[in-house]
Amino acid sequence: MKSSGYTRSMIENPKIAFLGAGNMAEALVAGIVKGKLSKPECVLATDISPARLEILKDRYQIQVGAQNLDAVLWADVIILCVKPQVINDVLTEIQSSLSEKQLVISVAAGVSITRIQDKIGQTIPLVRAMPNTPAVIQEGVTALAGCRDLPSEQLYVAQKLFESVGQVVVVDETLMDAVTGLSGSGPAYVYLAIEALIDGGVRAGLPRNIAHVLAVQTVLGAAKMVRDTNEHPAVLKDRVTSPGGTTIAGLQRLEEGGLRATLIDAVEAATNRSSELG
Ligand SMILES: NC(=O)c1ccc[n+]([C@@H]2O[C@H](COP(=O)([O-])OP(=O)(O)OC[C@H]3O[C@@H](n4cnc5c(N)ncnc54)[C@H](OP(=O)(O)O)[C@@H]3O)[C@@H](O)[C@H]2O)c1
Repeated sequence: MKSSGYTRSMIENPKIAFLGAGNMAEALVAGIVKGKLSKPECVLATDISPARLEILKDRYQIQVGAQNLDAVLWADVIILCVKPQVINDVLTEIQSSLSEKQLVISVAAGVSITRIQDKIGQTIPLVRAMPNTPAVIQEGVTALAGCRDLPSEQLYVAQKLFESVGQVVVVDETLMDAVTGLSGSGPAYVYLAIEALIDGGVRAGLPRNIAHVLAVQTVLGAAKMVRDTNEHPAVLKDRVTSPGGTTIAGLQRLEEGGLRATLIDAVEAATNRSSELG
């Protein structure tokens, strides 16, 4: 990874432009502003919907505008937050105004680095990011893949940006479909599991509102135990499984139902689908 000396101001207080001010852009704007990563006046969002821009301006006191080109000329970091279907149009619009001193980050699912570089040129520093929806509450996880020869400072800037909405991992771009299959689609798997646990509680006689609280906090607490103790999940599972007890009875049913194999299959199926769509 090469290094460059021209990004000091960009690292300390980058001017960040979001092209597309939808759900993912708002999650990132909220994280950046609340986390004081950049001042609100150093954040600008563009969108084709004036109503959407007004909402972001009201909520976060950032700058807004209708012109992607003006935003690109102003910014150090350009975050492409439009849907994959319109990214080609946006790249065509901005490509001649980009410079090598800027950083372009794309969150468009399934759009490869090569496809973007074919439009904007090989020399523009580029990062592809795959965040997930819990970014909205600053509990997301984002995988980043840098283009070839990305200066380390630019990767650092991208990491800081996405750390404002959760955790960050850096991967080779070839793993982006697997990231999509696991953490991109993963929140839906967990929502399904929570819903089923609530139904299980209701089946066992609990009022639904009580079952809801118990199920949600159990999943949250278990996830934090795995994260914060650094113990292998199997070790934590063994610790709560006493001989002849209740937990082993429940675990036996999960094994009979093939829970583990089903989850592995689910990640694989979503990974394959992501690869097909890409
Ligand atoms: N949401 C997620 O959880 C998630 C996760 C990972 C990756 N992503 C990626 O993030 C990107 C944005 O997703 P999103 O959920 O935030 O979508 P979204 O809510 O639809 O936001 C996209 C915004 O871009 C606007 N737009 C359309 N054409 C534009 C143009 N030419 N210039 C500027 N703005 C334009 C859209 O306006 P209109 O609605 O009026 O068209 C919309 O407000 C996608 O590429 C997606 O793959 C999202």
